[in-house]
Amino acid sequence: MRFTKVIQGLEYTEVKLMKIIIAVLAAAVFCAPAGAVDQAGIERRVNALLSRMTLEEKLGQLQQLAGEANGDLHPEHLVLAKKGALGSTLHVRGAARVNELQKAALASRLKIPLLFSFDVIHGYRTIFPVPLAETASWDTDIVREAASVAAAESRAAGIRWTFAPMVDIARDPRWGRIVEGSGEDTWLGSAMARARVNGFQGADYSAPGKIAACAKHWAAYGAAEGGRDYNSTDVSERTLREIYFPPFKAALEEGVATFMSAFNDLNGVPATANRWLMTDILRKEWGFQGFVVSDYTAVDELINHGIAADGAEAAAKALTAGVDMEMVSRSYNSEGARLLKEKRISPAQLDEAVRRVLRVKFRAGIFDSPLADEKEEADVLLAPAHLKAARNAAVRSFVLLKNDGALPLSGALSSIAVIGALAADKEAPLGPWVGDGRARDTVDILRGLRERAGAGIKVSYSPVGGPLDKSTDFSGALEAARGADAVIAVVGENQEMSGEASSRSSLALPGNQLELLKALRAAGKPVIAVLMNGRPLEIGWLADNLSAVLEIWHPGTMAGGAVADVLFGDASPGGKLPFSWPRATGQVPFYYNHRNTGRPANPDAKYSSRYLDLAITPQFPFGYGLSYSSFTLSGFELSASVIPAKGSLIASALLENVSSRAGDEVVQLYIRRKAASSTRPVRELRGFTRVTLLPGEKRRIEFKLGHKELGFLDEKFRFKVEPGELTVWISTSSEGGLTGSFRVSK
Ligand code: NOJ
Repeated sequence: MRFTKVIQGLEYTEVKLMKIIIAVLAAAVFCAPAGAVDQAGIERRVNALLSRMTLEEKLGQLQQLAGEANGDLHPEHLVLAKKGALGSTLHVRGAARVNELQKAALASRLKIPLLFSFDVIHGYRTIFPVPLAETASWDTDIVREAASVAAAESRAAGIRWTFAPMVDIARDPRWGRIVEGSGEDTWLGSAMARARVNGFQGADYSAPGKIAACAKHWAAYGAAEGGRDYNSTDVSERTLREIYFPPFKAALEEGVATFMSAFNDLNGVPATANRWLMTDILRKEWGFQGFVVSDYTAVDELINHGIAADGAEAAAKALTAGVDMEMVSRSYNSEGARLLKEKRISPAQLDEAVRRVLRVKFRAGIFDSPLADEKEEADVLLAPAHLKAARNAAVRSFVLLKNDGALPLSGALSSIAVIGALAADKEAPLGPWVGDGRARDTVDILRGLRERAGAGIKVSYSPVGGPLDKSTDFSGALEAARGADAVIAVVGENQEMSGEASSRSSLALPGNQLELLKALRAAGKPVIAVLMNGRPLEIGWLADNLSAVLEIWHPGTMAGGAVADVLFGDASPGGKLPFSWPRATGQVPFYYNHRNTGRPANPDAKYSSRYLDLAITPQFPFGYGLSYSSFTLSGFELSASVIPAKGSLIASALLENVSSRAGDEVVQLYIRRKAASSTRPVRELRGFTRVTLLPGEKRRIEFKLGHKELGFLDEKFRFKVEPGELTVWISTSSEGGLTGSFRVSK
């Protein structure tokens, strides 16, 4: 029997829903690797425990409170934990502190352990490159490894749950949190979401060294109007489903344990009170089994949004929408009893939220091993293998934007001038989320270069010029540069200029850095710019006037060594941009996969979609990046010229390293559909691979194009492959490349 329901214009069937649930359970029981989760046993334990809980204990499980920023616990939390009135904390970290608080929870009536959480975004103590940078590696193995190291260190410090990955798509780099995600592209972002969830959780997040992950911020937080953090969003259902949702779905398919509700208003209903998001999509359509935590005080912020008159209404709206755990504000706990009495929430709704939290706690294994091993922690944090992985990830994340031959540095040079405050900054390389990272662990750029240069090369340094430096006296820098064979200026943003609550109205290079570069150039010096930043900046002048520009992002603890590896040519850069680099702030929002419009941009046609005063092209396109090697692509082939809607074909091209250096190239596959039932982007990434080739080596690169790559949502949001003509490109960025076309038959 089929019961068809229509929810918000979306068709789904209960039969389909049941199939999803059965498939999830079957996957857990039959397909999971040995030693993986006993789903049925967990459900029994959850229900048995739930049946013994008082109302206060149930509400307690839904409360998460923050410890001190430095990792200390709050004395009140000991009291609440002992009463069974606390479910989770954030910030509290370090095996000894975690154990102290956990022991209080274990002394409570039902001994339900706490779930210790923390923002482990790109490393716990060993800090890896910021997520945007990791994504620029276009290397899912590196990204998985980074998350895996972060999980191992977190777990050793008592953390069992991270608020990562952030999978928000960002099309507007004024938004400071672009640094925390994977940039503008859904396909790339989804691949990175899978890799990160897998790195944190593995197949079973109770396993040693693994922790539960959290897909955030559900949803469309990155679409903040004007790029201003926390701002409202207004996004069509098609754009949500095609652009913003897929990385969340990818995280879910990878088994992510939890979701976080976003701060923003979405189409008039704040995400934290948005039943369509939390229940209709997440639970009913996608079959999510874990729990949803609100963002920090987001439940009480429903009052500011103007959708709740007071804490009681805020709690009722969030809980009934499907937000299970409340972070930091306390309205579930203070108002829960009253809301039940007044029947504004039902006992079943409350029980379901508690059940979801307990399920994750059981799956995380904290009932069976609630305490951290205090002896292990010191050995795991900053382990040599972790530092090595962080350095390698940083090297692979760098993107060479320009090079007139100045890089790699010549073996014959005898002196280098290093310029700029950022070169000796130990905080900026860590980026805006530092986990438990310490500036004292950072190998800054200057140190890295000095260590690599050794006794044979003189390295002079001037701290003149920086993101906060307003001075116009560049004499110190000019003096350092004067006799040097090479001038390396480290410029960009400091630690505070991107990340949460760090939106900027201008993408200009901050402080006096542009003037500094102009002064160095005017003194006749060829300059190599090393760019440290969490977002694209206006660097047109740099691209036109400097010898080389290397994007290093915020590279993490091992920044200096990694920069030295690449500048001296011990490693070749091979990263690619995960966003379209604008020429000027006025171009944003800016993304390569835009629709064509009825009057496509044409610089020479007045009545076309262009600016009078600004080019329509990017400074550097999405997917762009150079290397010290040279590659050619040739021999484009499609294995078929016509395929049925359920069929597939192979697109391939021959990649050759035509230089005398080994190096990496990221080969990318894009498609375009010219006529379809809805307007489609001018190009969409549908495949990529990063390959290393030795000098003279050739390799045929193949991409399969099937249902997943060719389908899109029809007018009822059903994923389908429509008949019609498709163009395919195999290229090394989102511009140009080898091309051909094929047809999907009726
Ligand atoms: C607010 C941020 O939006 C979120 O990403 C983070 O996980 C929480 N604070 C907890 O620190």
